Amino acid sequence: MRYTEFRTTNTILLPDDQSSIVRAAQVIRQGGLVAFPTETVYGLGAAATDAKAVTRIYVAKGRPADNPLIVHIAEVKQLEEVSTAVPDSAHRLAQQFWPGPLSLILPRSNRIPALVSAGLGTVAVRMPDHKVALALILASGVPIAAPSANRSGRPSPTTYKHVLADLAGRIDIVIKCCPCPIGVESTVLDLTSRQPTILRPGGITRAQLESALGCKVALAGRHSFQGVPLSPGMKYRHYSPRAPLILVTGSCARRRILVQSLFDYYSSRGLKVGLLNSVLQGCLHDSDIAQRLAASLYKTLREMDCWGADIILAEKIDEKGLGLAVMNRLGRAAVRVLKA
Ligand code: TXA
Ligand code: MG
Repeated sequence: MRYTEFRTTNTILLPDDQSSIVRAAQVIRQGGLVAFPTETVYGLGAAATDAKAVTRIYVAKGRPADNPLIVHIAEVKQLEEVSTAVPDSAHRLAQQFWPGPLSLILPRSNRIPALVSAGLGTVAVRMPDHKVALALILASGVPIAAPSANRSGRPSPTTYKHVLADLAGRIDIVIKCCPCPIGVESTVLDLTSRQPTILRPGGITRAQLESALGCKVALAGRHSFQGVPLSPGMKYRHYSPRAPLILVTGSCARRRILVQSLFDYYSSRGLKVGLLNSVLQGCLHDSDIAQRLAASLYKTLREMDCWGADIILAEKIDEKGLGLAVMNRLGRAAVRVLKA
């Protein structure tokens, strides 16, 4: 099921100053929707304790009802408000990585309506590393439920302009700020499974988590982990530009040849072909490539839509560090993966 019923709203764009925070917090407390910047992507926030407000998030985004939201907090003590049983491992990770791009899946407390978690008994929680986001949560006085502030299925927004392009007229406030520095969403780590399991790779890497926890961390497959579908969001094709995206894998030299021949083939048929990430490779370190690509990925996909690309060719990058998150997003945006 997908929530679709929807009332038009005048969306107000506010600067990221103190009086805007006060005004936006008031809107949150009254059950409204506020798009705010985080270090990963823009979030679309509502009071996490208010089921009616949270319903408005699903409606504004056209989000499937079985895809749960992340609850954002500004202080570690709020963890006890959102979860009934916070394990030591969560405290250890919070101490090391919060504020930061890590969402922890924990048992959900009754303070958080089931709707936030799409009916699951668990809840995703994170403390964003962004002063505007933290100030807004503190001023609101409640944890804020916030998915990425895009229409469902569109690339996540990393600038306020992306938010307006998708949601103007559907939400109450957008806080105008600089582009989100990381550019891809947080790592989602399930702490309720037998072994800590990454459900979505993001800004905090598997190696960082393993070193903080002192144990192995599993990585869930695309749709399931050990046969169980764990993160509902994983089953949807996501992050998609309008033009079909072809992801080219294989060795560097072979990739180059295949990308070039695909480019020539489509161009010769009069199609507008967008090229993603090929130029960076060979002139930068793998980790720099991943970071740069993450920061510009969604923006570039949206720009290719505006330019009117008919087809987008993307080259695989190394899956180390943030590269895993980038490849995860490219893999899910792609209509085809071709091995050179
Ligand atoms: O960086 C981020 O995480 C951004 C910013 C705004 O914080 N938020 C974000 O939210 O990316 P969203 O809704 O676009 O993605 C949330 C992901 C989805 O894949 C969802 O299925 C998963 O987290 N998720 C949320 N709650 C869950 C739960 N209780 N169990 C399993 N997966 C959950
Ligand atoms: Mg999203």
